[in-house]
Amino acid sequence: MIDLSKPVQLAEGLWWVGSERTYENLQCNPYLLIKDGKGILFDPGSALDGKEVLAKTMSLLPLDHLEAIVLSHQDPDLCYAVSFFEDAGFRGVLCCHERAALILQYYGFKSTFYLVNHHEYSYTMQNGTSIGFIFTPYLHFPGAIMSYLPEQQTLISGDLFGSITADWQLYADESYLDGMKAFHEVYMPSHEILKAAMDSLDCYPITLICPQHGSVIRENISKHIETLRDMPCGLFLLPRKQSLPLDGGIRSLLDQVVTRLITIHGKEAVRTTFEQSPFTINTTKKVISKTSVGESEMWEQFFSYLEQKNGVGWITSISSFVELLSNQYDLPLPLPFSTLAVKTKREAQESAQELRETQQRLKELEESLYRDPVTKLYNNEFYLAFLKKVLDKTERTEHGIAILVLGIDNLDRINLDFETSEGDRTMRILADLLLHNVEDQVQVCRLSGGLFSLLCTSLTKTEAIERANTLRNLIASDERFIVPITVSMGLFHSDEIPPELEGDSAAIISLVDQTTLFRVRLARKQGGGVLISSSESKAGSRSAFTIVLVDNPGFDRDLLSEMLTKEGYRVLVCSNGLEAKRLITESPPDLIVSELLVPKLSGLTLRKDLLNRPSLGRIPFLLMSVNKQERTVSRAFELGIRHFFSRPLAVYELIGLIKLISEKGA
Ligand SMILES: [Fe+2]
Ligand SMILES: [Fe+2]
Repeated sequence: MIDLSKPVQLAEGLWWVGSERTYENLQCNPYLLIKDGKGILFDPGSALDGKEVLAKTMSLLPLDHLEAIVLSHQDPDLCYAVSFFEDAGFRGVLCCHERAALILQYYGFKSTFYLVNHHEYSYTMQNGTSIGFIFTPYLHFPGAIMSYLPEQQTLISGDLFGSITADWQLYADESYLDGMKAFHEVYMPSHEILKAAMDSLDCYPITLICPQHGSVIRENISKHIETLRDMPCGLFLLPRKQSLPLDGGIRSLLDQVVTRLITIHGKEAVRTTFEQSPFTINTTKKVISKTSVGESEMWEQFFSYLEQKNGVGWITSISSFVELLSNQYDLPLPLPFSTLAVKTKREAQESAQELRETQQRLKELEESLYRDPVTKLYNNEFYLAFLKKVLDKTERTEHGIAILVLGIDNLDRINLDFETSEGDRTMRILADLLLHNVEDQVQVCRLSGGLFSLLCTSLTKTEAIERANTLRNLIASDERFIVPITVSMGLFHSDEIPPELEGDSAAIISLVDQTTLFRVRLARKQGGGVLISSSESKAGSRSAFTIVLVDNPGFDRDLLSEMLTKEGYRVLVCSNGLEAKRLITESPPDLIVSELLVPKLSGLTLRKDLLNRPSLGRIPFLLMSVNKQERTVSRAFELGIRHFFSRPLAVYELIGLIKLISEKGA
């Protein structure tokens, strides 16, 4: 009994270092050659068994003595384990054909490639031992190779001579040929190619064949080579017409199928499959021992039962073999096989359709995260992400980046005079106008409220000013709006980025954001409908943000005024509504914070009066009162006041809102 939990020596210096666990009846075999304390590993294995292979290898050889890993081709069942070896400290080369290396690079291996076709198909170890490589193109990969160890007269054959079987053992016995055929029939492309490779082996003395799948062949070497040389395989199954014995001919063919099924799926699985069937199977002799089905129906019924019981999987596993038998004996291909291609095609089409639908749904979902529901333009999240992306590449753009932010001056008034649906319609028309009057590469986004941005990646500042003014005029003269609208515009150009901020994209984005909004506010202060493209005041400086505070004298007012001043705002305090109205009319502030009950003009009357002047009506207005009642709240709402604070004040909440307005509320 061989202990497979340890490496097994196969020949002088040659070890099997695989795992005894088999996956889906396909065993993977790595081999290790050690000579004078140096080693070469062949086809190290998969993600499933790679760690065990690593442990077994390291039990025989320190990893820094492993010079090379040979990869017969690029499949994951033999390559993936390279990453385990690299992580553990392997620093040697990967030997393979350059066609395999082309694909292998996508595993992300760090090791250097040794391309055997650039080195006369040989590798010489540091101790002088040479090994040879035999090129076996298209068996089954264009860059497949086998390795030959002259001293051991051993062929390490990659996928060739592999087998698929339920009853794996380390050394092949006489039953091995059937599993070998089962593997080659489906994995090798054609008889001609396979035959040529077998012919090329004539000049090598071989006493041992070590395949990557299946078992080590140490007996009847030439019989195994002959079997592959003669066997039909792949897409080009070559039938040699034969006639069936008149009596029991079909049954003898089905016996061959039973043998094949047992090889691939194992005795137990075959026994249970046919337990309740019209076919009694003797799994020891691998034949049908009894059946109630007549000879003429047997060929069809056997496979119909198999498909019904075990599905397409078992039918697929023997499809090449049954197709070959049908051809050889001029029998009709049983129905499960003739419909197999159709079924597979239909299933593939269905899953392709499903995949397309899922991808479409994902795309829509992703889009919805970056789209504004009202205008269908990209939203603020997208704008910031896109801004970051283009700013990171500033030096690559020829003319620089221009960012134009524009705000509808009279949106509040439209919402108030008509309905909010009209405000939404106004924004949709503006979105449409912008999209139709800018080049394709300009990103148009809606940031919030009536605030939009246009981002152009290749425009000088002069060009940007020219285009912005054209847009401003187009907007002012568009007759689709329910009333004419004007926009205040703030333009920023990447020329303005100070050198000390270069490379700090977060700081640059904040500068762009604050500067554009600040300029929109400045434009509004000038009565709206203008473009501001430069500003002397420090961008985003709150001292430029003026608040008129209308409140009765007292501790509350002083505290609020002081806190806002500390936050950097310019605060103008008024004690009554009339005084506030005069001040606001003379010099419109950015925000009004008013107590409801102040002398001369109440907070609500003040608001109502300001609404008569569009430029004053759009200044954000916050109301405060000790007497917050339903009636006053709904009256305030009618006048477009969206924020009404109860007193005593939640001061930090109020200041938080003011910050929000001053940063975004342009
Ligand atoms: Fe393969
Ligand atoms: Fe393989």
